Amino acid sequence: PYPVFANVRKDDPVKQVILPGNRLGWLITRYEDAELALRDARFVKDPQRALSSEQLQQQFGNIPMGQDADSEDVALRRPAFFERHMLGVDPPNHTRLRSLVNLSFTPRFIERWRERIQAIANELLASVEAKGTMDLVNDFAFPLPMLVITKMLGIPREDQDKFRVWSNLFIESSGDPDSFRQNAEQIAAFREYLRYLIDKKREQPAEDLLSSLIEAETAGNKLSQGELISMVSLLLIAGHETTVNLISNGMLALLQHLEQKELLQQDPALIKSAIEEFLRFHGPLMTATQRWMGEDVELNGKLLKRGDYVVVILASANHDEETFKNPETLDITRQDNRHLAFGKGIHYCLGAPLARLEGQIAISTLLQRFPHIRLAVAPEELTWRPGALIMGLRSLPVNF
Ligand code: HEM
Repeated sequence: PYPVFANVRKDDPVKQVILPGNRLGWLITRYEDAELALRDARFVKDPQRALSSEQLQQQFGNIPMGQDADSEDVALRRPAFFERHMLGVDPPNHTRLRSLVNLSFTPRFIERWRERIQAIANELLASVEAKGTMDLVNDFAFPLPMLVITKMLGIPREDQDKFRVWSNLFIESSGDPDSFRQNAEQIAAFREYLRYLIDKKREQPAEDLLSSLIEAETAGNKLSQGELISMVSLLLIAGHETTVNLISNGMLALLQHLEQKELLQQDPALIKSAIEEFLRFHGPLMTATQRWMGEDVELNGKLLKRGDYVVVILASANHDEETFKNPETLDITRQDNRHLAFGKGIHYCLGAPLARLEGQIAISTLLQRFPHIRLAVAPEELTWRPGALIMGLRSLPVNF
């Protein structure tokens, strides 16, 4: 998509378009505008703060709002893009929800997971080593972050396969209300599972994130039932659907730029700046999540009106020639790399320290153990997952 974005940035950087569901929306493609939209409080996350009741009805149908929306049952009926998790709300709710998990994701706290993440990486690679070939997405990049986040939450390993189907559903149908209706059965199964999991943890709390969230919910005023369900779904989905693409898009970039791969192999300490460059060059998310105009704002000569829908195109901002020198060049030594792959402002990715650590360990370990790793198919044969939110490969066959 990068050449297309480059043209839009030049010709019509704040571009009005018709989105699925016949909604009018604005595409924000330049770095400066994207950064502003991500951190400016006039761009809001909760549609109830931007839309009239008629517009709400039109766009969301009869989904209960406000206090009514707080029951566990309703939270589970709502499509993911409209949930009451921190990424879907504004302050003061956002501040309250984020503060419940902030401490568990600080770089210092995450550092404690290093050995466990390394052990998971070793284990996954050991299981394919003898074959000399693997699908890097499904054998490595997907299970690694999944094993980590489910472990953090305290979800039993035998349940983990179930999430694949569900999180796929949420990711690939993101922003398309019809697809939620069509997949009602799967959504009901996800709801049943979450309910079962929470009940089980209530009975047997442990030293894990889910238990501490349940404690906050039980304490009363910190977290409603609906918010608890939403928070767990968000952490589960955000915790691996993105990092899988950091690892696989990053490896694909290296395998298509062998001089950069060699450079990294000669100087493994470059892994930190390499990860930042992978996030910029071919980051996991094409766009940020939903935002509406909370009031009228003029941006780059266009009037964005209260209630308008806004799509911030991270993939375009990260290739803006006004901000990045030679944006189309992969340079793992790039300095001052202020990419927006993790967003900006109050919704800046909670999991960034974890994702960075997972990415560094995953790619370093791959290159160490399989130094001659190479693509097993021509790049044109690779297929990408549908949907406008993520940029992720379906599979990445490699030989080593
Ligand atoms: C928010 C990207 C990994 C949890 C975000 C946002 C972005 C992002 C762009 C902001 C979206 C917006 O403002 O619309 C990424 C990328 C990742 C990654 C590129 C991997 C490379 C993770 C992981 C977790 C996580 C591992 C762990 C649980 C979250 C949460 C939020 C968030 C909870 C919402 C924060 C808030 O609203 O305050 N992420 N993420 N992410 N991310 Fe990540």
